[in-house]
Amino acid sequence: MLSSISDYPGYTEFCRRAAEDDGCFAGFREDPVYSAVVTSQLHYRGRDYFEMLEARGFDPGFFAAVRDHDRIGGATLASFGAAGDLAPQTMRYVKVLSDLEQLFGSLDGASIIEIGGGFGGQCAVIAKRFGFARYTIVDLREPLMLARRYLDALAIPNVAYELLEALPINARYDLVISCYGLSELARPFQVMHLQRVLLRARAGYLLWNNEGMKPHRDWQEAFLGGEMIYCDELLPLLPGARLADESWLALEDRQLDARLILWGTR
Ligand SMILES: C[S@@+](CC[C@H](N)C(=O)[O-])C[C@H]1O[C@@H](n2cnc3c(N)ncnc32)[C@H](O)[C@@H]1O
Repeated sequence: MLSSISDYPGYTEFCRRAAEDDGCFAGFREDPVYSAVVTSQLHYRGRDYFEMLEARGFDPGFFAAVRDHDRIGGATLASFGAAGDLAPQTMRYVKVLSDLEQLFGSLDGASIIEIGGGFGGQCAVIAKRFGFARYTIVDLREPLMLARRYLDALAIPNVAYELLEALPINARYDLVISCYGLSELARPFQVMHLQRVLLRARAGYLLWNNEGMKPHRDWQEAFLGGEMIYCDELLPLLPGARLADESWLALEDRQLDARLILWGTR
């Protein structure tokens, strides 16, 4: 059985190679094996996220602080006018950062945990805005190795890299984030995250994207051992959680029929 739709040897072995081999690390972000899981090719090339940021009056000066993030891993850049050249994916991470700031206020001193953190791109962007006390990334072993290499290259401080089974059972978090991560896991792992993380976090921001899996029940039974938890089932399990209005979602997220689950907002 797989722990998620991306827990297959081709992907995890690639992550290990990218973490260990300089040549592979230099180009990992656009590699087809890697980007099949951690998508770099966005339908609107990040323009939809940028337009939302512009409409909010987001400070364009911030983009200079994350420019070096895309010099690592061979990302293909797009041009965003006053914001300059950035990877569309990085624009998405900045939009999520802006959401977090609007919804939860300052994250200075916060204990943040991210489930399915990819190569650490979201963490790195948040680190350029806030001095969090601790940022725990939970992922599979090999993606964690890659995230460590990427975040070390950017000298991002206070990051912990954890496997789900190694998480303490009685920790407390100020904020849990998961963007297309937890929603892609098999049910037993989702339940464990619910117990160890979601119910122990004061606030949450979950981009949930498994509506499209509903017609693939047989595939899920065969590879994940049963059906995943969908948004409708998860919401009542989280005290105080609600679905964000669609206006929080960019075109890209709407195209994926994503839902944004929130709690603990200010
Ligand atoms: C679609 S990617 C999203 C990455 C990142 N959140 C982003 O927005 O770029 C899914 C992530 O979930 C991770 N993942 C897969 N199986 C997992 C598991 N069993 N536990 C935790 N993370 C897992 C993958 O390694 C990958 O980092």
